[in-house]
Amino acid sequence: MRILIVGNGGREHALLWKLRADAPDASFYATRPNGGMQPAVTPVDLSPEDVGGLAAWASTEDIDLTIVGPEAPLASGIADVFAARGLRIFGPTRTAARIEASKAYAKQLMGRAGVPTARFATFTSFAAAKRHIHDVGAPLVVKASGLAAGKGAIVCPTEDEAITAAEDMLVRAGFGEAGREVVIEEFMSGEELSVLALVDGESALPLLPSQDHKRLDEGDTGPNTGGMGAYAPVSIATEDLLERVRRSILEPTLAALKEDGAEFRGLLYAGLMMQDGLPRVVEFNCRFGDPETQAIIPLLSSSLLEPVAEIAAGGSTAGIRMRWRRESAVTTVLASHGYPGSYAKGVPIVIPEDVATRHDVHVFHAGTRLEKGGLVTSGGRVLAVTGTASSLAEAAAVSRTAANAITFEGKTYRKDIGWRELARQTRTAAKRRSAKGRG
Ligand code: AMP
Ligand code: GLY
Repeated sequence: MRILIVGNGGREHALLWKLRADAPDASFYATRPNGGMQPAVTPVDLSPEDVGGLAAWASTEDIDLTIVGPEAPLASGIADVFAARGLRIFGPTRTAARIEASKAYAKQLMGRAGVPTARFATFTSFAAAKRHIHDVGAPLVVKASGLAAGKGAIVCPTEDEAITAAEDMLVRAGFGEAGREVVIEEFMSGEELSVLALVDGESALPLLPSQDHKRLDEGDTGPNTGGMGAYAPVSIATEDLLERVRRSILEPTLAALKEDGAEFRGLLYAGLMMQDGLPRVVEFNCRFGDPETQAIIPLLSSSLLEPVAEIAAGGSTAGIRMRWRRESAVTTVLASHGYPGSYAKGVPIVIPEDVATRHDVHVFHAGTRLEKGGLVTSGGRVLAVTGTASSLAEAAAVSRTAANAITFEGKTYRKDIGWRELARQTRTAAKRRSAKGRG
């Protein structure tokens, strides 16, 4: 079997690692692989966004299955051009990928499908946006409707900040095309949860829920990033909650997409806000999350290749059962100093041998490059270091120890990944102790 992976970040390295374990005899190809993927693949020197070039290449090379990591090629219609050549690909069509590529479309779809989400309005005129902000009042979230690499949502505690954000997008074109339309949303408080599901157009098979840490600094402060870490499982995501998410969020969304002639096959990611035990949708993504994938995948004990190949072949998720290890995983992202702003590249990285070979540590590469002299940095998020253990506290310690042992100049990381869950466990243990004391 010949498998092409489109994309070259931490998520794609984690997918590659699992697919190789599922199919040890397969040949793997990847677009401009990072330093961690490179030894395991034949590199394809095409950009993930060169969808026509990739389809032509995959035809010539007789690729059996293509898996797409990032959203941009999906939004550009990579699934459509591959399908037109009879090539199997895991990922939604261009029209279905609008669920991520146009926040305005996603909100309107959720409205029609009765999916719980924040109240919203969309604008292309700054004057109208400003009037609306005055009418509804702060706090608000102002979002560029198009793709903005996770940086297009501005949480605005005051009306003035909301007006500035809308002006940046609509007048100063600070987000380019992506900000020509803005979505202005009610601010939702609560705790976020990522539910990723394999979907076959109608049914959804949720994966192990996880929690991302989008802010740069500890305690979830500082600017939004692509994600500084993640962990799984999350105790607030009970079986009942997952069933509710499947029935009241994922499947109604799939039905509404189908009604629009935009059947969605692939991975549907629901970013949820949990308040009083009830989920509301913050956003949908049309692909695996990064860094959630790096936390979830090491816990998957059944095959990933099987369901992915089945969905890409036009089959259904009906007979598929995913199995998960009864362990916890914590992923710590090591970033370059300056990220999410500007940062240096080409900085030498040292991963000690005893870290690289530990059975309970996975070092997934993101912004790294293999050069003649060794491994160097090539991006803002450099490595995603996943630790696994029987408890979350131990997994966090394993991840942190490994993160600490890896060195490169300017290394920046959070030492508190999983803090909400750990605090919850401490509270539960204290309650148990005091109940015992009383009893
Ligand atoms: P998005 O680009 O829509 O994923 O938003 C990025 C981040 O902004 C989310 O993960 C949340 O932390 C925050 N956010 C977005 N929309 C809202 C909202 N309506 N209420 C509160 N926080 C939000
Ligand atoms: N971790 C957030 C995302 O993948 O969009």
